[in-house]
Amino acid sequence: MSPQPQAAVGAPLSRVDGRLKVTGQAKYAADQDPGGPEGVVHAVVVDSRIGRGRITGVDTGAAEAHPGVLKVIHHRNSPTLPYGPNPGSLNLPGERLRVFQDDQVRFHGQPVAVVVATTLEAAQHAASLMEIDYAAESSETDLIETPATGDPVTYTRGDAEAALQSADVRLEMTYRPARNHHNAMELHATVARWEGDRLTVWDKTQWVQSPRAELAANFGIPAESVRVVSPFVGGAFGNAARAWPHITVAALAARETGRPVKLVLTRRQLYFGVGYRPAYEYKVRLGSDRRGLLTAMTHELRGETSRYERFSERGVLAPGQMLYTTPNVSQMYRTVALDVNTPTPMRGPGYSTAAFPLESAMDELAHELGIDPIELRRRNEPENDQASGRPFSTRRLRECYTVGAREFGWSRRNPRPRSTRDGDWLIGTGMATAVYDTLRAPGQAGVRLDADGTAAIESSTSDMGPGTYTSMTQVAADALGLAVRNVTFRLGDTDMPTAPLHGGSLTMASVGSIVQNGCDTLRQQAIRLAVEDEDSPLSGANADDIVVRGGRLHLKDNPARGETYRQLLARNNRTHLEALGSWTPGQSRSAMYAYGAVFAEVAVDARLGLVRVRRMLGVFDAGRIISPKLADSQAIGAMVGGIGMALLEHTVTDHRDGRIVNANLADYLVPVNADVTNLKAIYVEGRDDEADPLGVKGLGEVVVVGVAPAVANAVFHATGRRVRDLPITAESLL
Ligand code: MOS
Repeated sequence: MSPQPQAAVGAPLSRVDGRLKVTGQAKYAADQDPGGPEGVVHAVVVDSRIGRGRITGVDTGAAEAHPGVLKVIHHRNSPTLPYGPNPGSLNLPGERLRVFQDDQVRFHGQPVAVVVATTLEAAQHAASLMEIDYAAESSETDLIETPATGDPVTYTRGDAEAALQSADVRLEMTYRPARNHHNAMELHATVARWEGDRLTVWDKTQWVQSPRAELAANFGIPAESVRVVSPFVGGAFGNAARAWPHITVAALAARETGRPVKLVLTRRQLYFGVGYRPAYEYKVRLGSDRRGLLTAMTHELRGETSRYERFSERGVLAPGQMLYTTPNVSQMYRTVALDVNTPTPMRGPGYSTAAFPLESAMDELAHELGIDPIELRRRNEPENDQASGRPFSTRRLRECYTVGAREFGWSRRNPRPRSTRDGDWLIGTGMATAVYDTLRAPGQAGVRLDADGTAAIESSTSDMGPGTYTSMTQVAADALGLAVRNVTFRLGDTDMPTAPLHGGSLTMASVGSIVQNGCDTLRQQAIRLAVEDEDSPLSGANADDIVVRGGRLHLKDNPARGETYRQLLARNNRTHLEALGSWTPGQSRSAMYAYGAVFAEVAVDARLGLVRVRRMLGVFDAGRIISPKLADSQAIGAMVGGIGMALLEHTVTDHRDGRIVNANLADYLVPVNADVTNLKAIYVEGRDDEADPLGVKGLGEVVVVGVAPAVANAVFHATGRRVRDLPITAESLL
């Protein structure tokens, strides 16, 4: 077939759903009201005020007497829920939290009751009137103070211990990235409605299949009886991939009251009602020769998890195995079970955590050896993936370094720490490498072209912010040969063809290829219809010579000979054409990753320890860029998040009782406008044809990975102080 002209792909389109969002017409989960004339009723979760122990008494009297209260559910009156196995979900080894099924308290903030009332205010006030007595036991929530319990996950190549002994240079450091919370703008919310045995939920989710599977398992009903609808998601960063306990609470409350129920977690409840990026302790040893060639690397790490589930993430180990040439690597990763709720992937999961120790350590080695940090990385640039022995599909990391160094002005840098001043401010620059897995997954999309020449495509993916609506519209518009305004993409409904999880940077590669496949199939159907139609100007033409542009099919080399979709369908009495798109990634011969090089300039107040990021540049190799404006949103948004990870974000737990001290956006610090100045992203573009038919590698995760270490390295360069705990606070620099 003749390649379609590309008009929409690669164009800096604004979001096709932008108007809906800024005019308040986009309906998020909490905006849904499927309650009919009576409206929905409201559920408020009561959370435990101890960190571990038992519930010894529940007095619902005052709450139940409150006007408007319909029902109070807790472990003493809750029906037993089946909580069947749910292997297809994102559930972890262990046993998921079962709401209201026993008197045990496993962490501070665990749901212990739910109050349902006709108004939100009544439910909130009644919830405050609940009297719950506890027998508290001491809880363990401190990663640093608690021994590891999880089975070791190890990786070994060569003999790192022996190589360390004979290394010219040996370094040993311990890094401690803090626990972070996603803190998406939209709160987690679920609206649940039962009709007989059928359940519909409107939910904030990155994957409508996930709450469907979880609710079906928890209530013991077939998955087909659960419909999940999620047209808009106001940010998620990983924490809306799994179905958290409140989703079951909402469905239970709806079933017990016989009314459609709306449940919105409060901002405070997000800190224990959904997951978070776990804290880690990361011991790194590096051995190298005098020229900076790495001879050995050991990583010993401990990461927090809950007692009831074992959360672990491969990404904390992966970069250490494949980023640099190192003949001898030894890694050991153990989880530490604590009296906390279960962690979950957060943007750049694992990789962004690992990049802080790994890329800080490379900077420390560069300083030790007196080698430029970029030069050190170049010397250790591998020719293939040393973990698997496979070639890299595409790896333009050297180009990222070259372009980044040039655009950032790296050569003007005086390598000596604490060598540059601007009044009271110490100025420093730093860089770090970024890497993230290119993940892909199979799925399907439905494509329909109507007689009026407009098309609708649907697939049950999600748009948590990267712009799925827009990028899929671009892909579809080009594949169908239609203007963007004549294409509508729909998502977020289990009634639509099944799409994979919207996460792990796999949506553009996977759903994009699925959509393209469906649109290609439909276009070829139309072309076939034309060439076989004696009354078509294209009758008898070679199908391979025909392209479609602006809704008109024509010979590639003779645009005058052709007709529009509308003419073709009308003459053939067709109301529409339909196709089902699908794509399944094949076995790959290569190791596929997206890469980046991140550069930061900071100013540190020499007397106050205050750190300001003055400018940041990220250069990324993410394959082909479908939607440059959205790519910039991803990259710049990730730099903001990474600045938070480096300098501000820290979920603080009171280890006496497991209470999270800063469970609000006033005390959990995130970057604000004053913290974010000059951010820029550049893409070293090029297709990765092994990855997927679109040639993309995924962008949304890799862009955050190198940010925190780039900032940390710049802080070292500015001050001569190496801070190995995140976030880097003013007090750590005094
Ligand atoms: Mo991403 S952490 O998979 O949403």
